[in-house]
Amino acid sequence: MSPIFVTGGAGFIGSALIRLLMAESDYPVVNIDKLTYAGNLASLPGLLTEPMYVFSQTDICDRAALDRLFDQHNPAGVIHLAAESHVDRSIHGPGEFIQTNITGTYTLLEAARAYWSGLSGEARARFRFHHVSTDEVFGSLGETGLFTESHPYQPNSPYSASKAASDHLVRAWHHTYGFPTVMTNCSNNYGPCQFPEKLIPLMILNAVAGKPLPIYGKGDNVRDWLYVDDHARALRLVFEKGTLGETYNIGGHNEKTNLEVVDTLCALLDELKPQPDGRPYATQKTSVADRPGHDKRYAIDASKISHELGWTPTETFETGLRKTVQWYLDNPAWVAHVVSGDYRNWLTRNYGERT
Ligand code: NAD
Ligand code: TYD
Repeated sequence: MSPIFVTGGAGFIGSALIRLLMAESDYPVVNIDKLTYAGNLASLPGLLTEPMYVFSQTDICDRAALDRLFDQHNPAGVIHLAAESHVDRSIHGPGEFIQTNITGTYTLLEAARAYWSGLSGEARARFRFHHVSTDEVFGSLGETGLFTESHPYQPNSPYSASKAASDHLVRAWHHTYGFPTVMTNCSNNYGPCQFPEKLIPLMILNAVAGKPLPIYGKGDNVRDWLYVDDHARALRLVFEKGTLGETYNIGGHNEKTNLEVVDTLCALLDELKPQPDGRPYATQKTSVADRPGHDKRYAIDASKISHELGWTPTETFETGLRKTVQWYLDNPAWVAHVVSGDYRNWLTRNYGERT
């Protein structure tokens, strides 16, 4: 069976997708990841000796390396997640976001199109390129309303602008070249193996370390939270059954203000890891300066993927958050690994280059 290329498979969502594909499908997977600070092969335990899995430490901006991978593996498709993904980093240094998210997506599209152009028969008919994107491309909502697939693009941060640009490239490659694409735009994910710069893991780890819990502005910004394994299931479904040229919004029906999220996390930690002196974790909440250009509210209308492909999330915010908190409490070695960068040495020791 031909493999699927997963880019960014050492990241938070990519690793959840690969764990799902390895556990529940017959697809061999080639994980193409540069291993930036956010990529961590410790999120894919047990795959080292898995014959259905290959890892290639490759930058998606490297056209020659991508061409070699397409030649070598003859993939049945690509699920493209590799990206710079953190809004705050994009504000402080947008350059990497332009490079990876725009130039990288362009380079990958061109390598994939060259490969697909050389296919014929069934291999050509079944090939597809799935671009994984975010609801942040739609900008910010007011008090009411939901993002549908036809919502105008109004990105407000360097991150969301670079993702919007990559979405437009994918759309144009389909429209102009007939290149077989599908696209998904998802709301905020949470779950195991998320790099602790994002809200939920940052708050869990700061809380148990006795550090302040920094809440930007009034804490009344709203995000629509989706458990990462529910996203991974949606990605597989769209890759397999989505209509070419279409986009699908994916969301958790879990709108929460940031303060609600932090208060829920603190209450869970009070229950699962009470402080020796009985002090509630919520006492560590600290209001800090707001993020520049901070989007007020994101919320997804996921009715298209639900009606057309039968997807609905299985986790509620309460069940997903409990699992997430427990995972971070149970996996201090993963956290230490990621924060120290030790995993790069671990990579060389255990993997070498496997391309
Ligand atoms: P992440 O930051 O955890 O992981 C990104 C991965 O991409 C890392 O493994 C990194 O090493 C790799 N990467 C970065 N630059 C690369 C390059 N030039 N070449 C090859 N690999 C490179 O990100 P994530 O949260 O898992 O997000 C994955 C995708 O999903 C992104 O495209 C993101 O925009 C999108 N998305 C994320 C969320 C979310 O809440 N995290 C929500 C919706 C959409
Ligand atoms: P984040 O996890 O960075 O995701 P995104 O910006 O892509 O939505 O942030 C989620 C929300 O939490 C966002 O409104 C910013 C806020 N936030 C804080 O209040 N404090 C923090 O330390 C972080 C990282 C985020």
